[in-house]
Amino acid sequence: RVAGPSVLVLFGVTGDLSRKKLLPAIYDLANRGLLPPGFSLVGFARREWENQDFRQLAYEAVKEHARTPFREDVWTHLAEGMHFVPGEFSDPGAFDALAMAVKELDTTRGTGGNYAFYLSIPPKFFPQVIEQLRRSGLAEHGPGSWRRVVIEKPFGHNLDSAKELNRTVHRVFPEESIFRIDHYLGKETVQNILAMRFANTMYEPIWNRSYVDHVQITMAEDIGIGGRAGYYDGIGAARDVIQNHLLQLLALTAMEEPTSFSADSVRAEKAKVLSSVRLPADLGRATARGQYAAGWQGGEKVRGYLEEEGIPLDSRTETYAAIKLEIESRRWAGVPFYLRTGKRLSRRVTEVAMVFQRAPHLPFSHTDTEELGQNALVMRVQPDEGITVRFGSKVPGTAMEIRDVNMDFAYGESFTEHSPEAYERLLLDVLIGDPPLFPRQEEVELSWEILDPIEEYWAEHGKPEQYKSGGYGPESADLLMARDGRAWRRL
Ligand code: BG6
Repeated sequence: RVAGPSVLVLFGVTGDLSRKKLLPAIYDLANRGLLPPGFSLVGFARREWENQDFRQLAYEAVKEHARTPFREDVWTHLAEGMHFVPGEFSDPGAFDALAMAVKELDTTRGTGGNYAFYLSIPPKFFPQVIEQLRRSGLAEHGPGSWRRVVIEKPFGHNLDSAKELNRTVHRVFPEESIFRIDHYLGKETVQNILAMRFANTMYEPIWNRSYVDHVQITMAEDIGIGGRAGYYDGIGAARDVIQNHLLQLLALTAMEEPTSFSADSVRAEKAKVLSSVRLPADLGRATARGQYAAGWQGGEKVRGYLEEEGIPLDSRTETYAAIKLEIESRRWAGVPFYLRTGKRLSRRVTEVAMVFQRAPHLPFSHTDTEELGQNALVMRVQPDEGITVRFGSKVPGTAMEIRDVNMDFAYGESFTEHSPEAYERLLLDVLIGDPPLFPRQEEVELSWEILDPIEEYWAEHGKPEQYKSGGYGPESADLLMARDGRAWRRL
């Protein structure tokens, strides 16, 4: 799979995402020989810059964040195709200049009139940029060439704004040209959920309410909000990652087998399962939220959320969220799905754990099985990528004592192949025009339908609970599980 002739136009080129992820990923693709010889990258931003400044920024980003070794020849070739167009999003002249610049590349570098526009910019600018792309004629293409628009989350703030954003984009681009990024779908371990479930026989018979007691989906981070106060404070943990990453993980874990791995079949199954999600009636008991207070992390003292630069002292934004959901289907009726995410927790881990029912009867003595928990199958998304099966085993010795052990599959031990970084995979898919790993509008809207009532409930019910940085999250989240006679897996 190699991209064909094309230009990638990057809006928001000086932003964090561009420097840490996008520019390095483009270099890595070039380094692996996955970009065509004339591939061109055009940066657009509000800076009085020349091409040289853009190349310098990209050079530093690549040196610091690329995953593959630096090769002078690859860099030089890539840099020759890098151009910068300065301008405000409100300035029609700047977009006319952009249109001229990309047309010229078609002639000088043979990019074939194929343009992808990557909007790595604050969402309030989306409508303006989309409209400028229309007005300048950049959104139109001739026969045999294509236009694609790549949109970074957040896709709206709630269901209404997501619909509005969709209408805005659809006025100019048809659905098949819109690539919404949820970078979790670009992760190898996330794609492997479907491979594991549907390429094997042994999981399917137990993947249902007859065997599964509950499911825990965890995305814990040890980092705080860093310099992202402006973005984060109006959003919070649930909108930041549950609406997208965690509900996508839920959909992949719970969906039925697609008829094929085509974009339409996979996305239709995901949409079906998202539309069967039900919230418990009492949202006070089915959700918990917290805000990190000062604490210690990695041997360093860290400040609380309310002391972070740019955060108002009375902010009620949650940095931790836990939600209990149910799926109304024959497969999952009565099986709770517990989702949790938080910043400044004890460690970084993302995983999906299927926790199985206890054996109906144990022919062992009570004291011998005291340390026996529930069987679990854990899909470890990151950082320790792999799969763990947890089960009871006899403790060596003269008694029949039984204790839990882990059986592990680790990517690093089984494969020598390189795992592309999520953005590398997704950027390549955009340039190729391969859509299965991009959420469709319907999935985005269904996810907001799940989240909106929770956000409304939280808005009317006080403040998030403070939890210590470097710990395990708020007590209310533990209580949520305890009320059901369950407990979170240890972080
Ligand atoms: C982003 C969120 O989508 O995902 C961030 O906006 C979060 O708040 C990040 O830190 C985590 O991504 P990853 O790939 O490091 O798990």
